[in-house]
Amino acid sequence: MCGIVGYIGTKDAVKIILTGLKRLEYRGYDSAGVALLNDTSNGHLTDNLTILKRAGKVSELEKLILNQKSAIAEATQGIGHTRWATHGVPNDVNAHPHTDPENHIALVHNGIIENYGVIKQKLLTQGFTFRSETDTEVLTVFIRSMYDRVKDLTEAVRLALSEVEGTFGIAVVSTLEPDKIIAARRGSPLLVGVGDGEYFVASDASAVIQYTRQVIYLDDDEMAILSRDGYATKTIGDETTNPAIQEIHFDLASIEKGGFDHFMLKEIYEQPNTFHDAFRGRLLASEGNVRLGGLTPVLDKLRRANRIIFTACGTSWHSALVGEYIIEQLAGIPVEVEYASEFRYRNPVITPDDVVIAISQSGETADTLAAIKEARMKGATVIGLVNVVGSSIARETDAGIYLHAGPEIGVASTKAFTSQLAAILLIALHLGRTRRLSPREGMDIAQAIERIPEQIQYILDHAESVKKIAEQYTDARNFLYLGRGYNFPVALEGALKLKEISYIHAEGYPAAEMKHGPIALIDENMPVVCIATQDEIYDKIISNIQEVRARNGNVIAIASEGDKRIAEFAEHVIYIPNTLPILTPVLAVIPLQLLAYYVAVQRGCNVDMPRNLAKSVTVE
Ligand code: G6P
Repeated sequence: MCGIVGYIGTKDAVKIILTGLKRLEYRGYDSAGVALLNDTSNGHLTDNLTILKRAGKVSELEKLILNQKSAIAEATQGIGHTRWATHGVPNDVNAHPHTDPENHIALVHNGIIENYGVIKQKLLTQGFTFRSETDTEVLTVFIRSMYDRVKDLTEAVRLALSEVEGTFGIAVVSTLEPDKIIAARRGSPLLVGVGDGEYFVASDASAVIQYTRQVIYLDDDEMAILSRDGYATKTIGDETTNPAIQEIHFDLASIEKGGFDHFMLKEIYEQPNTFHDAFRGRLLASEGNVRLGGLTPVLDKLRRANRIIFTACGTSWHSALVGEYIIEQLAGIPVEVEYASEFRYRNPVITPDDVVIAISQSGETADTLAAIKEARMKGATVIGLVNVVGSSIARETDAGIYLHAGPEIGVASTKAFTSQLAAILLIALHLGRTRRLSPREGMDIAQAIERIPEQIQYILDHAESVKKIAEQYTDARNFLYLGRGYNFPVALEGALKLKEISYIHAEGYPAAEMKHGPIALIDENMPVVCIATQDEIYDKIISNIQEVRARNGNVIAIASEGDKRIAEFAEHVIYIPNTLPILTPVLAVIPLQLLAYYVAVQRGCNVDMPRNLAKSVTVE
């Protein structure tokens, strides 16, 4: 949600910042902008702060920059931003960077300044004027007012931030003190890239990996002051900090499309590997058990938990729902699943004997982060299932399992979902073995998990058949997704994928619940995706399919290989390999991801950057 990148060094800042913004564009693409300072290495004050910004994608900004190239050719320092609008519509004026009225200070911001109204009033009475409707401009002007008092940029930023309520990741440059970038965060991710005579600031590592692998993840209420000669860090409370430099572990190829038309398709196709990476070294197939090093500090607590509460948002919430079914089945521990946004505001009953498991691809979702804080405050042990290493949720939890899915860039989550399921399966298997599963049962599950990567590959090898089905439904206005048991959450996830990227209205429903409402919608124009894999409730879902057929709905069935009967009831059948019922969600979701992808591509939608969405939602 909003991407920030900044550079100070000796190279072409425009190129570095634009490249970084393109890599961060998945975080928001309502508008983009840069603030650039020409080479100021002689240390003199300069008034050559160039601000270029545009509504729309980074490519629009790029066009603007190409027209202005001569004015900024020398820039070796600057900050850039790609925006997901919160305050103010996405137009040129509201785009970041924002400046003070005299254009001496430029600032980019990710987050929300909650008390901006009060601060703005104060600044208006002091005679300051404003050009935009944004909270960010208020913060910029506020810093300027502080500068007028203290005549020191770092101190001005620090003093302003100590009065601010809300969340921020910011980067600031100024003609008043050139040769400096100031960065700070509270609740919105920000890291410093450490190079040789050059330094970067970015919302995530993908924007800097091309130039350096050495990064510092800033903590909440921490700020960094970057110059060409080095960097310093301190807290907003004015205490010096000494954060560790960490190494980025993914490579450039993992954030490029690698020959695929879209990141989303690439990520769908990565799933045989990413699923495998989630259990590699953790699954002890011969013992029918698992080794979860990251959970060591909380393992006893987890084994003795009275109750497990999952909390998450979006796709991660769907994997939590699968988790409820699997853990209750394998381990017999009561499980609840909560939307993080609801959990944090409804004073939930939590005891120290509860274990809360937060699931998040990005590790930055504001609601999930707040839910964790609430749970910890009430004494619960909190575990994180997170993909992004070093992210806020990874750091706020007592222990966790990294998903190792690599960077997920497509806004609609795919590989993170199946990796989350892998992590949940490992936890469930472990808890099951400590409670009710025999070694033999454990081994059967472990062996079935080991077969999943090749089974995903098999489905991907038959993607063409899904594409053909998609072509027939490009003009559909609605879709219904039905599933039961472990596959009910998969129906929700399939519907979410379709709405996110194709803008077709889609609903996921427990198949049997359909007759209590959605059945009224079914006619010959309604495609109904039914997940009907062979398990103990197969006959029940066949009955539900017949109810759809009786009303002329078009059934697209996801069925187990070898199921000859299903073709009698369905317009189309997509077969998936046989596995244990608890593992079917991992396989059943793959054709649904492909279906959504191909429908969206056929409709000409931008699947990697669907309208109004952002990959990482760092505001409430
Ligand atoms: C956004 C994304 C979704 C994602 C959700 C939760 O809405 O568009 O794809 O599932 O946030 O994100 P998280 O990073 O916490 O899993």
